[in-house]
Amino acid sequence: MTDRHLWLRHETRTTERRTPIVPSDARRLVENGVRITVEDSPQRIFPTEAYEEAGCEVTEPGRWPSAPSNAVIVGLKELPDEPAELTHRHVFFGHAYKGQPGAEALLRRFAAGGGALLDLEYLVDDQGRRLAAFGFWAGYLGAALAVLHHRGGLQTPLVPMAKEEMEARLRASEGDLTALVIGALGRSGSGARAALDEAGVEPTCWDVAETRDLDKGALLAHDLMVNTVLTTSPVPPFLTDKDLDAPDRRLRTLADVTVDVGSPMNVLPFYDTTTDWDHPVRRLREHPPLDLIAIDNLPSLLPREASTDFSTALLPQLLDFRTGGAWGRCLDRFRRASHELSLTTRELPDD
Ligand SMILES: NC(=O)c1ccc[n+]([C@@H]2O[C@H](COP(=O)([O-])OP(=O)(O)OC[C@H]3O[C@@H](n4cnc5c(N)ncnc54)[C@H](O)[C@@H]3O)[C@@H](O)[C@H]2O)c1
Repeated sequence: MTDRHLWLRHETRTTERRTPIVPSDARRLVENGVRITVEDSPQRIFPTEAYEEAGCEVTEPGRWPSAPSNAVIVGLKELPDEPAELTHRHVFFGHAYKGQPGAEALLRRFAAGGGALLDLEYLVDDQGRRLAAFGFWAGYLGAALAVLHHRGGLQTPLVPMAKEEMEARLRASEGDLTALVIGALGRSGSGARAALDEAGVEPTCWDVAETRDLDKGALLAHDLMVNTVLTTSPVPPFLTDKDLDAPDRRLRTLADVTVDVGSPMNVLPFYDTTTDWDHPVRRLREHPPLDLIAIDNLPSLLPREASTDFSTALLPQLLDFRTGGAWGRCLDRFRRASHELSLTTRELPDD
């Protein structure tokens, strides 16, 4: 492990305050012989000094293209558009294997530079279960924002906050409502249930069994719905434009945590643009009203809790980087996606 070099990059998205490695876990990695370079980042929820104190080297934001070739660049969200050729191994959420917008362009950049995407979404155990995920907090926040909006208490623009503050807002919110969580047995689903519980709402919970023969009437009879489904093969849409036009629709607030916009897996294919922190809610219908919340960086609203949980889950994988079968599976997935586009991938240096 002595030559392992991780490079924690600054996130270019200005609202992204999370990090995949928190200072206490950086310290564990350093103690285990891992060299860590941390790009200074004005928005990261943990100060750069905390990484320095943990034994990391510090550099300027955005320096990763000039990192040593053996360095593994670690981040969360999208890379900047430059450089055109990606030469390193990159650990982050690439959103590149489900035909999403920009997916092919990203894979082409890796092919051009000979680097590799080790996509965190595909870091799985030998049963295919995700090893590190933000799902719980995504579901928690999707449901929390939906309840607060439905009850007339959502303050915008959204800003990151501490969990205790969000809990207090949920407990203070009032108003009868019926809620449905789809994908309720998953990580986001359990987060959504936790937020609804905090708000005093006991939701209807559906997962695969309940949507196999979908009762759209029952779905539309809820005031609020939270979609937290993760599907890997296309399924018929849960709702279409036509369903939203049903005059007897009771549904008023829809939080789509999944936000599979533009993907063939999208179970809610009636909108094509996400919402954001400045404008978290978009009105889809006027009579009767229907409001959509479709934010793709929900856990960033609770950056400390989300980062800490994620980093805890990722740490054993980073400590086991050389031998871990999970990273090999990640690399295989990248190569398969590249080959499907007839792109050539290069052999990586043997660690
Ligand atoms: N908006 C955000 O900021 C954000 C952040 C993190 C994750 N996500 C997304 O949230 C989604 C859920 O992630 P997760 O970690 O909870 O996944 P998960 O695998 O833990 O849970 C998904 C659940 O969906 C269920 N499911 C699959 N197909 C279904 C179907 N046809 N009908 C009903 N239920 C079905 C599964 O059985 C599972 O219980 C993913 O798409 C993920 O990308 C969004």
